[in-house]
Amino acid sequence: MKIKIVSPDHAHATILQKWLLDDNPARQVLISDGGLDALTHDKNDNTDILIVDGYCPEEQEFDGLERYAAAHHARSLIFLCNDPSAGLLLKMMQIGIREVLPRLVTSESLNAAVRRTEQSFATQSVHSGKVIAFIACKGGSGATFLATNLGYVLAQQQTDKVMLVDLNLQIGDAALYVSDHLPSNTLADVAVNIARMDASFLHSSLLHVLPNYGVLAAPDDVERAAQVKPAHIETLLTLARKEYDYILLDMGRTLDAVSLMALDQADLVFLVLQENLPFIRDARRIIESLRALDYGRDKIRLLVNRYEKGGDITIEDVERTLGMSVYRTIPNSYRNVASSVNLGVPILKVSAHDPVTECLQAIAADLGSKAKPPRSEGWLASLLHH
Ligand SMILES: Nc1ncnc2c1ncn2[C@@H]1O[C@H](COP(=O)(O)OP(=O)(O)OP(=O)(O)O)[C@@H](O)[C@H]1O
Ligand SMILES: [Mg+2]
Repeated sequence: MKIKIVSPDHAHATILQKWLLDDNPARQVLISDGGLDALTHDKNDNTDILIVDGYCPEEQEFDGLERYAAAHHARSLIFLCNDPSAGLLLKMMQIGIREVLPRLVTSESLNAAVRRTEQSFATQSVHSGKVIAFIACKGGSGATFLATNLGYVLAQQQTDKVMLVDLNLQIGDAALYVSDHLPSNTLADVAVNIARMDASFLHSSLLHVLPNYGVLAAPDDVERAAQVKPAHIETLLTLARKEYDYILLDMGRTLDAVSLMALDQADLVFLVLQENLPFIRDARRIIESLRALDYGRDKIRLLVNRYEKGGDITIEDVERTLGMSVYRTIPNSYRNVASSVNLGVPILKVSAHDPVTECLQAIAADLGSKAKPPRSEGWLASLLHH
């Protein structure tokens, strides 16, 4: 971590430097006696945290502060400033300065602010979206419907970026569950162009249902499907994790080399079944295959779809047979689900209060609360620390 202290008072800067090094000797802490202007123009400056000591501009100088904040090359700024006016604090907040400490700062509060900043760098640099696979135990389980609609709910409910990859390579039609537009690009285009794959290429390959939700459609014919290789999936998902908060995979039912590569990257697997014997038999077979591939039980979640109370087979029967608990039941809601699927309109838009919609919202909330690292402290909270 490279920290630079810019101060009109060399003696004070030396004390600050000592405190920062005592707290963590691995830090590199430099002192600059020059003014702010000199730093602004130094394009080679690779400072991570810039501590600006004793600079408290008056309201008429705020423009200068804004220009400076835009032009400096540090990743983060900490201001030490006595009695900043409310106007100055507001201005600082608007231009993204999160830490303002009194000039007569203590070693504890200075180091706490620097550690908070270092922590926020650490969480920024390891952004990693969650990969969630949906496997249908049998045709017609509802895996595509649930995956595509959960994606929509996640994107609507939160500000997260969500993408879905349709891995039903032969006959995928996931995009049409939530959109009435035909996709112009597919997974095969991504595979063929994998060498020039980057965030904007990936973004433009998706069929966007919402600005923060896109579907990467399955190839449109068998020949093109054959162009998709496991290595492409690995590259695609590695990039997707960096760019998206949730990557949903509609796996289909065949476990081939491509889908195994995708599954290998999954943090969670939702196994979609219904409450009757053929589904339960297939669920058991899939759980056994997953277990043989070293998937821990904690990675697998059972979703019993089209659930209706009072059937011949109870949830307890399912749990006993499969040796694991059911994560959630999704009610049968024929009319609204049928109109959603037939019109290509997400069920949330068809009916915000349908029990299926509410269930998807609960799953989304559950994922959100577990997937999110604790948010870094807000600006006001950080001010309250001193
Ligand atoms: N909770 C539900 N209530 C009522 N109908 C549902 C529900 N979930 C799914 N369906 C219906 O089941 C049909 C099949 O769903 P879907 O296509 O998602 O299954 P799948 O598991 O992806 O099957 P495949 O293996 O063919 O890809 C849908 O057309 C939808 O109308
Ligand atoms: Mg499907």
